[in-house]
Amino acid sequence: LAEPINVVVTGAAGQIAYSLLYQLAAGSVFGPEQPINLRLLDIKPMMDVLQGVVMELEDLALPLLRDVLPTADAGVAFKDAAAAFLVGAMPRKQGMERKDLLAANVKIFKDQGEALEKFARKDIKVLVVGNPANTNALICSHYAPSIPKENFTAMTRLDQNRAQAALASRLGVQLCSEMELTPLVDKVKNVIIWGNHSSTQYPDAAHAVADLPGKGSVKVSSAVNDNAWLNGEFLETIQKRGAAVIAARKMSSAMSAAKAAGDHMRDWWFGTKPGQWVSMGVVSDGSYGIPKDVVFSFPVNIKDKKFEIVQGLEISDFARSKLDITAKELEEERAEAHQIITSELSNCNLC
Ligand code: NAI
Repeated sequence: LAEPINVVVTGAAGQIAYSLLYQLAAGSVFGPEQPINLRLLDIKPMMDVLQGVVMELEDLALPLLRDVLPTADAGVAFKDAAAAFLVGAMPRKQGMERKDLLAANVKIFKDQGEALEKFARKDIKVLVVGNPANTNALICSHYAPSIPKENFTAMTRLDQNRAQAALASRLGVQLCSEMELTPLVDKVKNVIIWGNHSSTQYPDAAHAVADLPGKGSVKVSSAVNDNAWLNGEFLETIQKRGAAVIAARKMSSAMSAAKAAGDHMRDWWFGTKPGQWVSMGVVSDGSYGIPKDVVFSFPVNIKDKKFEIVQGLEISDFARSKLDITAKELEEERAEAHQIITSELSNCNLC
């Protein structure tokens, strides 16, 4: 077995963490050969709850889990960390404007960025789940300048998984009912989530393919053959899926969000399969005309723990308009975050 690595989960006493921690301890993210030390960060008032989570982790009796450290101190949590899931964030409360939400999160992700800068390994892989995930990732990276920008990503994998499941379900009805075949969800690949993890995201099936039993590899758009559905109901269902889960459960997606966080990190760690790409919020390099320096979800290929944005995909006029909407939202969020940071600095008596 390899030497243990330190893995941080923030918001460790919360809902998503509750499902995520089991996956980590069981080896389904970093593999069955990789022992881990868990560093569990939450706020002080949650320390008792967190102690209960620690007890449960012990009671799992899983051999890959070596050492578990609950803490409210980011400096302790991030020490020598090789991977971090930044799940904890300020939730949107009733009547809260986006700007208020951003202001609260700027503070959290600034503090965590600074702790990462000081204490974490320089090759740490950081996945931001807490919302607004894309802009939180940007802020965090900004405050950890000695860690490469590419090491900060935001999660849109849940949106990708939702889109994949919706397409598999549609193809099941359309193509396979006569043959009594159900296309398995993992036969659908290369659906893309572009942009922000928000309702402006663009779930794009134009490049998706499905390996169907007896039919081989088919283009999903040809098989569905219904652009009105792909550009209408499908798109809106995925964009609003998070809200639909909240309406039903009275709490936000947690089991599926934790599964998606595990999927994201596992692919980053071990690489994507040949011919398949996944969507991740990454710092834009200007690909597809997206402004630089926003964290934008792109399709990426991953090898040797490094991702590359998939290049050369054809972008229709419809897709272009959707990409521009979500890019504009991210530019606005970035401008608001910048404003918050500069006004904080001007109030700071140390500056
Ligand atoms: P939760 O409310 O159950 O747990 C959040 C935890 O974070 C709480 O224990 C809280 O005390 C902790 N926390 C707050 N501030 C913190 C700080 N400064 N440092 C460390 N911990 C802190 O929430 P849940 O359901 O686990 O969701 C967490 C976040 O994930 C939310 O922001 C949610 O909007 C987001 N989310 C993102 C998704 C995505 O696809 N990117 C999908 C679903 C949720």
